[in-house]
Amino acid sequence: MSILKVARLGHPVLRQGAEAIPPEQIVSQQLQKLIDDMIETMTEYDGVGLAAVQVHECKQVAVLEVQDNPRYPKKTRVPLSVLINPSIAPLSDEKEEDWEGCLSIPDLRGRVPRHKSIRVQGWDRDGKELNFVASDFHARVIQHEWDHLNGKVFLDRMQDLSTLTYLQELARYWVER
Ligand code: NI
Repeated sequence: MSILKVARLGHPVLRQGAEAIPPEQIVSQQLQKLIDDMIETMTEYDGVGLAAVQVHECKQVAVLEVQDNPRYPKKTRVPLSVLINPSIAPLSDEKEEDWEGCLSIPDLRGRVPRHKSIRVQGWDRDGKELNFVASDFHARVIQHEWDHLNGKVFLDRMQDLSTLTYLQELARYWVER
């Protein structure tokens, strides 16, 4: 496995959007290697999610995992999962605001409103169909990664840019809500 280079804000690849993966290509060696490398990269940089566009591959695949994470110490765990060609639908209008960061926008955090609960459909890395409900931080991470696959970053979703802060200042001046 290899650790991949992560594109940072300003690189056009982050604004391009990703293409759907034909189902027969899901189990291909090439895609399986990309997935393994994405997991390795996410783990190396203490991310809770990573979309393929962030490693310069315009394919609709994202990986996520929330464990005891130094970048997000208070969050509930989400097992390692791979989402291919995901689609999401909010289960209600209810939104929640919380801090978000992004490996493509290092050191910054901002408060982002997200749907509290969503239905997620897509495929896993074995080509098995996925259809599940995600809530709270799990739903947030999926919405964040889904945005990447559509050429968006969390800054685009912020309603109030005055909450944008460096991580060090966040710890110093803001109380985690
Ligand atoms: Ni991100």
